[in-house]
Amino acid sequence: MKKILFTASEAVPFIKTGGLADVAGSLPKAFRKEEYDVRVVLPLYRVIPDKYKEQMQYLTNYYVELSGEWIYAGLFQLEYDGVIFYFIDNEHYFSGDRIYEDGLWDLEKFAYFSKAALLMCEVIDYRPDIIHCHDWQTGLVPVYLKNEFYDWNRYGDFYQGIKTIMTIHNIKFQGTWNIDDMMRVTGLGGYLFTSDKLESYQNGNYLKGGLVYADWITTVSSCYADEIKYPFYGEGLDGLMRARSNNLSGIVNGIDYQEWNPETDPLIVQNYSVDSFAELKAKNKIALQEELGMAVDEKRFMVGLVSRLTDQKGMDLIDCVMEDICSDDLQFVILGTGEARYENMFRYYEWKYKDRVSSSIMYDNTRSHRIYAACDAFLMPSLFEPCGLSQLMSLRYGTVPIVRETGGLRETVMPYNEYENTGNGFSFANYNAHEMLYTIQYAKYVYYNQHERWNDIVRRGMQADYSWEASARKYEDLYNMLLGW
Ligand code: ADP
Ligand code: GLC
Repeated sequence: MKKILFTASEAVPFIKTGGLADVAGSLPKAFRKEEYDVRVVLPLYRVIPDKYKEQMQYLTNYYVELSGEWIYAGLFQLEYDGVIFYFIDNEHYFSGDRIYEDGLWDLEKFAYFSKAALLMCEVIDYRPDIIHCHDWQTGLVPVYLKNEFYDWNRYGDFYQGIKTIMTIHNIKFQGTWNIDDMMRVTGLGGYLFTSDKLESYQNGNYLKGGLVYADWITTVSSCYADEIKYPFYGEGLDGLMRARSNNLSGIVNGIDYQEWNPETDPLIVQNYSVDSFAELKAKNKIALQEELGMAVDEKRFMVGLVSRLTDQKGMDLIDCVMEDICSDDLQFVILGTGEARYENMFRYYEWKYKDRVSSSIMYDNTRSHRIYAACDAFLMPSLFEPCGLSQLMSLRYGTVPIVRETGGLRETVMPYNEYENTGNGFSFANYNAHEMLYTIQYAKYVYYNQHERWNDIVRRGMQADYSWEASARKYEDLYNMLLGW
């Protein structure tokens, strides 16, 4: 049995701010249980719903040394959907209203979490073969492991030989701060803050530490694995990505086919399948139009957007041509939170075009399911996109994605080819608002004038396999390769 421990700052169903949580919560289930024992360790945030906290079982407590201080760690466990989740409890660090707060505080919080997660292994005598770390919040795991925990005098051979993988979900977020403060909060020695280790552009950098010390690096699509070797996408770490390119691979994300299933989804008004979408899917559109107070018309072309409202997601393109998008033969349904200027833009357009624009500036899982089910098309014009899960959810629900050709979007959305009648979506190449607008208009044209063709596009999307099945096998191969088995 190969033992794998995921370290992550969020995972569904406990706590989620974005796609990282979907991956950390749903990928562990997809491994072959006879051969892989995959567990997850998370912070026990106060904001995790009580219904989960009530089911957790207290295991033990221990003290973590951080910068010369001994800090309490309580350890809880919950088996969910066949996967063991560990939760590290410390109210000082994890009792905020939001899971990510500010600057140095987050850095201290995740230094503590990384060390507590490592120490947990010895405390409960669970020695993983591989620790699989996700994003900058757990970038210090490989660093602490190979520096402090490899120390024979303190830990004997317990931690020796444990392999680490660092998965990049988004290279833009790195966890950086000035070196003096970072040394103080992490307790890491000055010798680690050099340009071949944690130093990056005069600052300390958690993600860089993880990328330098991990045995292997993955990211969430092959396209993004290539892109981050170039300055435009590499966010300053492209040189390191080129240097480590022999130990870097891309494995595309999947989605949880149980949770995201239009045939059984309890959160949507009308279930449907690839055989019945043409008759039944529109009932979800009518229900959503009623729920949101838009003009009720089952034939109207409805475009959805469920997203963090940030520059990454191409919101400035939408801002540029929003007036043109809001034509009277299109409805635009937005669900998201993020930068104030984009939240206000969408609120303004809802006020201006009440019948055709609906802006839900909030985080709401149920509404997201209803939007994926109700809309005809889904807009995702990202500037960069490591993988993207929203387009996969849309495809699964027969909602045709309109995307920019970048990262995981380029890998999962095949543009419609009208000559060969192939493709599962629409895409454009350049980061240009009018190219996006043209692509939306072209999709709308096909929807209104070639509806049979439109249904073919929907069908191809719904029939394709975006579950974790294929990608979990690739992670298994990687684990085997690292363990030499
Ligand atoms: P990212 O992780 O960069 O935000 P992804 O496409 O990988 O982008 O994942 C986003 C996830 O978050 C999807 O599951 C999407 O449905 C969900 N999501 C984003 N915004 C909201 C929101 N306002 N309400 C509900 N779900 C949301
Ligand atoms: C990040 C990326 C997104 C990806 C998700 C899960 O949040 O922005 O593209 O799908 O992580 O890997």
